Amino acid sequence: MTRRVVYTRGGAPADVLTVIEEPEPVAPERGQVLIRTTAFPVHPGDLHLIEAGPGDAVDPVTPGIEATGVVEAIGPGTRVAPGVEVGVRVTVFPQPGSWAQRLVADAEAVVAVPEELPDEVAAQMLANPLTAVMLRREAQEHLAFGYDGCLVQTAAGSSVGRLVTGVSQFHNFALVNIVRSERGAAELRKRFPDVPVVSTEHPGWADEVRKAAGGRPVSVAFDAIGGKMTRSLMDILAPGGKLVSYGMIAEDPISVHASTLVSKSLTLRGKNIISGWPSEASPERRASDIATAKQIALALKDQFDVAATYGLDEVPDAVEHAVQPGKVGTVLVRTW
Ligand SMILES: NC(=O)c1ccc[n+]([C@@H]2O[C@H](COP(=O)([O-])OP(=O)(O)OC[C@H]3O[C@@H](n4cnc5c(N)ncnc54)[C@H](OP(=O)(O)O)[C@@H]3O)[C@@H](O)[C@H]2O)c1
Repeated sequence: MTRRVVYTRGGAPADVLTVIEEPEPVAPERGQVLIRTTAFPVHPGDLHLIEAGPGDAVDPVTPGIEATGVVEAIGPGTRVAPGVEVGVRVTVFPQPGSWAQRLVADAEAVVAVPEELPDEVAAQMLANPLTAVMLRREAQEHLAFGYDGCLVQTAAGSSVGRLVTGVSQFHNFALVNIVRSERGAAELRKRFPDVPVVSTEHPGWADEVRKAAGGRPVSVAFDAIGGKMTRSLMDILAPGGKLVSYGMIAEDPISVHASTLVSKSLTLRGKNIISGWPSEASPERRASDIATAKQIALALKDQFDVAATYGLDEVPDAVEHAVQPGKVGTVLVRTW
């Protein structure tokens, strides 16, 4: 028998999630890989999907998009990525229904894990690093980026934000980090002493961001929040600037008068690694991005903090922990 997390209607994740037991999956078919998972991360996007789930009960749906584990079988005639074979440690992404002990995964989503990486990093090796790669690519489309243009990002202490900071340091991009508290700012300053951090706790924070940019034009903003924050970032952006919206933390809508966009020729772009990357990127680009994600995991191992690890029977605690203010790192669930 094997166990998986399910919900049958949308709602607060801690209330609607449960674990069911069922027979083990049959052997994988062509194009599939059977994986015995060891751990999965609880990403904010997983929780949004559960909250927005159907109002009326439906067949059990398993949440999740990423997990790590060991290959048990490969479907006949299946093309797999380099290094993927029976007995090897892998991570899968994007793989809907990853919160399970066993997964019959799409072979295209299965990636071998470098030996040097512990399971805690392997469990988060793809979704967030690929998001950082996707965002970097968006920024680099701006002509001033990488020259005199400066990047700002909100929710900079998040798991994604720390990777964006690390990647910006590799490439020597000018960056100003924005967080919502002095506590979060102090934590980030400790990790990245050379990167300015501004807390929105202070009323004059927008001027502090401009000052921290040191006279460079603020060309690109990555925004995980939305709502009023997006509007404030548009005010901070230099003419011709680009705002990349990739998170939906704020409940209020983004409200902006057309004149703000028009007078400064701003670009507002939404990006999503789950629906965007697999469909927009060619197989070659996906392979290249995965190689970069592995390099990020290897080089920035210390930025893959685990906020806490829970067991499969503790999923309600895990999902509550995942939204706690001030948490640093990703919540993981061990599947056995
Ligand atoms: N579009 C995509 O493809 C994609 C992919 C991955 C992630 N994301 C999004 O990226 C964001 C970060 O994900 P993650 O896994 O890195 O998150 P995480 O590690 O759980 O961190 C969440 C961060 O959000 C901050 N935060 C929460 N509520 C806030 C608020 N009301 N105002 C300001 N800051 C707030 C927290 O700050 P404190 O430290 O102060 O609590 C924390 O730093 C999420 O919104 C997620 O949905 C999008």
